[in-house]
Amino acid sequence: MHVMKTLVLWILPVILLCSFCSVAFWIFLSNNNVSPNPSSKIPQKVSDTQSCKGCKENVFMSKALGNYSNRWKKNEANFKRFRSLLSGKCHAVSKAVVTQNNTPLGSNIIYDGERRKPIQVTQALFNILAKEQPFGNATWESCAVVGNGGILTNSSCGKEIDSAQFVIRCNLPPLDNRYEKDVGNKTNLVTANPSILHEKYSSLMERRRPFVESLRPYGHALMLLPAFSYGHNTAVSLRAFYTLEDFGSNGPLPVFLNPEYLRSLSKFWRERGLNSVRPSTGIIMASLALEICANVHLYGFWPFSKHLNDSRRITNHYYDDRQSKKNVHSMPAEFEHLLKLHKQGVVRIHLGDCQPTHR
Ligand SMILES: *[C@@H]1O[C@H](CO)[C@@H](O)[C@H](O)[C@H]1NC(C)=O
Ligand SMILES: *[C@@H]1O[C@H](CO)[C@@H](O)[C@H](O)[C@H]1NC(C)=O
Ligand SMILES: *[C@@H]1O[C@H](CO)[C@@H](O)[C@H](O)[C@H]1NC(C)=O
Ligand SMILES: *[C@@H]1O[C@H](CO)[C@@H](O)[C@H](O)[C@H]1NC(C)=O
Ligand SMILES: *[C@@H]1O[C@H](CO)[C@@H](O)[C@H](O)[C@H]1NC(C)=O
Repeated sequence: MHVMKTLVLWILPVILLCSFCSVAFWIFLSNNNVSPNPSSKIPQKVSDTQSCKGCKENVFMSKALGNYSNRWKKNEANFKRFRSLLSGKCHAVSKAVVTQNNTPLGSNIIYDGERRKPIQVTQALFNILAKEQPFGNATWESCAVVGNGGILTNSSCGKEIDSAQFVIRCNLPPLDNRYEKDVGNKTNLVTANPSILHEKYSSLMERRRPFVESLRPYGHALMLLPAFSYGHNTAVSLRAFYTLEDFGSNGPLPVFLNPEYLRSLSKFWRERGLNSVRPSTGIIMASLALEICANVHLYGFWPFSKHLNDSRRITNHYYDDRQSKKNVHSMPAEFEHLLKLHKQGVVRIHLGDCQPTHR
């Protein structure tokens, strides 16, 4: 009897508190899980002062620049080797998006950030899954993956970016004429993270037409929604899907990012020494491009607050200076890996300004 009382009085509240904390923790993580831009500060040790952060950044930057070359040349053998390694493990072409083929009716979708609570594929859910994988069997000749880093400001890279056959952008970035010269406006694929749906579009719980209208710049791009990363991503992502459908939108084609693909991709990068909790949208899109494109160009990937060879300060994004919250990604570590691929002639990272006349 006494034991029961103790249980009820003490243990239950503790359990409740714990589960509350873990929910809060996941919400915290997932609010941060989706920052699309590679621009964030070097992860800080607890004792970092402002100035020491600066000096660490300088050291990292000069090391990074030592591995960067403007005169890049593709190394076909390295490219093929890396690509077959990646596609052997991750199968982006058939797995990157949740489809009726890879996700049968009645099966469970296991969230990549929250394994314990799978969601069952009901008839209603099944009906809205893509009928087939959206990348076809085609390999695009050239792809530009556009991170949203402030390094794009005044870069004049818009034309060069738009000249790629397939252009991938992250997290519904602004493309209006203030930015077009630097970032272009062509979009074949764009990611839309739940955080932006919550922040910019009131979680799609209020008027939805502004959302539909704001998507016009993306034309008929594929819109990649990470609906199954965390349980609370699902409802808002489905609302985005239904909004486009209900408005008869002649706009982007919404599809769901496959958590199984994200799991295999995390594992792939972890095995290469990238120890962040989850890969950022930027490196996910770069990896996807490596499987579906013959030539991969990265723009707007530069996770530092200073320009590369002058000390011009750059903003966190090309469209604002909002700092990413302390997050689960390690942008500089990811950048180091991408830089390694640059050095090996596998991907081309563009850091300098583009020549308006070039190409
Ligand atoms: C640059 O390359 C060297 C040798 O490959 C490597 O040890 C170093 O970590 C790289 N630095 C950065 C910042 O990428
Ligand atoms: C891709 O190729 C496979 C086998 O070559 C074929 O079965 C499949 O229908 C093709 N898919 C598309 C979308 O073209
Ligand atoms: C970009 O160019 C404009 C106009 O020349 C200038 O005012 C602004 O300071 C520049 N921004 C950066 C980050 O270089
Ligand atoms: C992109 O910009 C060009 C002109 O620079 C314009 O003709 C085109 O309509 C724009 N595309 C979109 C989707 O806004
Ligand atoms: C940085 O240096 C490279 C090579 O030295 C040069 O081509 C480029 O114009 C420079 N960029 C800036 C912004 O100074």
